[in-house]
Amino acid sequence: MKLLPVVTAALVALVSSSAFADGAKLFAEKTCSACHGKDGKKTLMPDYPKIAGQNVKYIEKQMADIKSGARANGNAAAMKGVMVIVSDAEIKEIADFVSKMK
Ligand code: HEC
Repeated sequence: MKLLPVVTAALVALVSSSAFADGAKLFAEKTCSACHGKDGKKTLMPDYPKIAGQNVKYIEKQMADIKSGARANGNAAAMKGVMVIVSDAEIKEIADFVSKMK
């Protein structure tokens, strides 16, 4: 259990450093790209949505709703887990980045 403080410190460093990261970095770090594709189009599963170039407000709202549980349709549960590590400020940054993806 001696490892625990080390792991905790590393996690805190990771989380606090990413709070200042830009949208592109967050998109990779928060594993969005694993499911939605590096380009926001080549999705992991055929029933996962392409999100590149979507309207910024819509992206923000869907992320917030999946996080809160207000949106629990379809495959929303697949994404809900990761939203625990995405803050509201990070949602805004990522949404801005995704909306500008070509
Ligand atoms: C484990 C896979 C997974 C991860 C990781 C994931 N998502 Fe999703 N996401 C999904 C799935 C599946 C849906 C569709 C849910 C449904 O069927 O309603 C979705 C839905 C969305 C939507 C709404 C799309 C629409 O057209 O309504 C947005 C925006 C989105 N994700 C962005 C993100 C971002 C940004 C991240 C990173 C913080 C992320 N997702 C991480 C699987 C994932």
